[in-house]
Amino acid sequence: MKKIWLILCIMMQATIASAQEAPKLSTDNIDQVLKAMTLEEKAQMLVGGGHDHFVGSGAMMGHQKKLVAGAAGITVAIPRLGIPATVMCDGPAGVHIDARREGTDQTFYATGFPVGTCLACTWNTELVEEVGRAIGNETLEYGCDVILGPGLNIHRNPLCGRNFEYYSEDPFVTGAIGAACVKGIQSQGVGVSIKHFAVNSQEGDRTRVSENVSPRALREIYLRGFERVVREASPWTVMSSYNKINGVYAMGNKDLLTDVLRQDWGYKGIVMSDWIGKRHDLPTEQEVSAGNDLMMPGYGAQATDIVEAVKAGRLDIKDVDRNVRRMLEYIVKTPRFKGYKFSNKPDTKAHAAITRQSSTEGMVLLRNEKFEMRNEKCEATLPFGSDIKTVALFGVNSYDFFSGGLGSGCVNVPYVVDMVTGLKNNGISTTPALTEIYKDYVTYARKKLRIDKNPEMWFLDQGQPKLDEIDITDRCIQHELRQADAAIITIGRQAGEGIDRAIEGEFNLSQVERDMLTRVSCAFHAAGKPVVVVINSGSVIETASWRDYADAILVAWQPGQEGGNSVADVLTGKQNPSGKLTMTWPIAATDHPSTANFPQEPDYYNLSEKLYGQRMPGVNFTNHEEDIYVGYRYFDTFGKRVAYPFGYGLSYTTFEYSKPTVKVSGDNITVTVNIKNTGKRAGKEIAQVYVAAPTPTTQHPTPILEKPAKELKAFAKTRNLQPGESQTLTMTIARRDLASFDEAQSQWGVDAGRYEILIGANCEDIRCRQAADIKTGYTEKVSPVLSLKTKMNRLSIARQ
Ligand code: BGC
Repeated sequence: MKKIWLILCIMMQATIASAQEAPKLSTDNIDQVLKAMTLEEKAQMLVGGGHDHFVGSGAMMGHQKKLVAGAAGITVAIPRLGIPATVMCDGPAGVHIDARREGTDQTFYATGFPVGTCLACTWNTELVEEVGRAIGNETLEYGCDVILGPGLNIHRNPLCGRNFEYYSEDPFVTGAIGAACVKGIQSQGVGVSIKHFAVNSQEGDRTRVSENVSPRALREIYLRGFERVVREASPWTVMSSYNKINGVYAMGNKDLLTDVLRQDWGYKGIVMSDWIGKRHDLPTEQEVSAGNDLMMPGYGAQATDIVEAVKAGRLDIKDVDRNVRRMLEYIVKTPRFKGYKFSNKPDTKAHAAITRQSSTEGMVLLRNEKFEMRNEKCEATLPFGSDIKTVALFGVNSYDFFSGGLGSGCVNVPYVVDMVTGLKNNGISTTPALTEIYKDYVTYARKKLRIDKNPEMWFLDQGQPKLDEIDITDRCIQHELRQADAAIITIGRQAGEGIDRAIEGEFNLSQVERDMLTRVSCAFHAAGKPVVVVINSGSVIETASWRDYADAILVAWQPGQEGGNSVADVLTGKQNPSGKLTMTWPIAATDHPSTANFPQEPDYYNLSEKLYGQRMPGVNFTNHEEDIYVGYRYFDTFGKRVAYPFGYGLSYTTFEYSKPTVKVSGDNITVTVNIKNTGKRAGKEIAQVYVAAPTPTTQHPTPILEKPAKELKAFAKTRNLQPGESQTLTMTIARRDLASFDEAQSQWGVDAGRYEILIGANCEDIRCRQAADIKTGYTEKVSPVLSLKTKMNRLSIARQ
């Protein structure tokens, strides 16, 4: 008994002594803290505090979970070493936290900013940076250290359920907009997590599918946007994706997380996994050694795995220490470590103004026809003139306007301005009977949806689900016609995490929508009144079959909580739309070659249960047979018609391009062009610079690689030009940006030769052509990794 007592005393003294001696983390003692950590503590650092943890730390974890209600995850605190827990909330369209908390009447609503597609379609990096600053400020003031966004995956196919969170089918736009957003957010002293690294371009089977992609398509298309953001904006964190790449899970993929990200690109921050936890088919130690520093949301079993793997010699302690050091380097940067006293009261009024204005710059005017029956002087349907005082507003989403998408990417917003309110705020009323019918229906349908809720569809709980469209009778249309000066039809689409979109009824219009559109259009046109369609969708829909029924079509995307105001600002001409498409709008979804290798069954749950183990495209594996020919690179190179090309967007004014110049000096090509507003309204124009690589000449007989017809290499947006005003835009292309990836040599290469510099208003509307002579080629070796193990027919010009 005496002996046991003695041992206990010694142990207690040792614990007290070690607690006394333990260094407290500071920016300049990371090595010391690392040395003082036990193996268990190190393991805890590498596993998020989302779920059960080591025995004995439960109480601590329970407390940490309450740091910010509704935040996506936390890292584990080790008070002995002065290491606080840090908090990660979802994004990217704003701070995703719970709006209400137990025990207080205070609310914690965050601003709903425009979704990724809308932001990208502004092509305005300064504006995106400003939006980023506002998002970063809300992240900080709501007590979070990192916001999980922006999403940088490529729109490989229009059916991907999360395209609304992503920017573009083009890596150059993705990189430029992404870097601006990250700079803006991180300027506030909080971090981002650029996600989902990499090739998470489908939601079906996303946690298991192997994205089989050639190293060339990986480097040129899927990784290039991430690369630019890493090099230019130093994101604090990167989120590895759920899927496999060429057979290896991204989170356990050393090629990707160490060789490419750190060695080739020089990344210094941390990598965290997406929210999967422990996988049965990926050893935890593989994640650690691959360079996935933090496992989220975190399960105790993963920490135990790390301890056991080190003890059993399966995991090198050096890898553990390396990742822990990165974690500590991350922690000392966070507001929580610095003891920042957040207010829980960001300036949401100012941020609402930012979202109202910024979204109008991302809206894309697809069509604006002359409408002479209404008013002989009228040149185009939009903006509405003073003769449009009352409109008949059709479509459920006019009244249940989508501010953002579903799933983790949604924001708990204080309100969403619908179209009725937005129009009213801009001096236009809506017909009373129709407004009442729809409003009553929306109230009923929302309640019904709550009762019919499918518990498996958790993501429908996050954000605004789509309500069914209603059938509008001819009598109703005739009734409205008499009272309205014009009709507006809103076509709404919702999508989100965990599920891709179907072609029928989602990409294409449903029969009810088609009937509504044709009947309203025929009736209003017969009465000499215009019809405007507003597309309230975060991603692309079919337009070619019905666009002639509309006099004007405005893509409003999911523009944030001020949606109705922003749309009405554009319809009435208070704002001149200056957005252009950052993705092709195809005639049919099947026109994209990737559709052949995309989940044909959009329902994620069916995929995992019914199709488990079957080998079919889009499930278990997705072969990227289209290779580098994604988006306009395909349509443009292979001469296929589209509904609206990449880069397209109308304005209420017109622009003339003149005096192009191209100068090659040193490693840069400088392009200038003069843009003149030749119309009657002030407006902004986006000039795009595409480059066509040299074709074989006698001087340079063998270009190394096959190239797309042209690729976007620079863009710039003018200031708001008054009628008659001009601005010279200057754009620089780094020689390195002309490079294609030679997988045989594992190197980037630029051929010497004559490049064609094509300056255009969109990918099909090239206004000026110049030549640029690159005298000497360029090569850059990179890690020879991420090889394609699957045999497949890769699309190539030669093979067509
Ligand atoms: C999503 C991530 C998100 C995370 C945390 C995952 O399911 O894929 O984008 O950040 O959940 O909510």
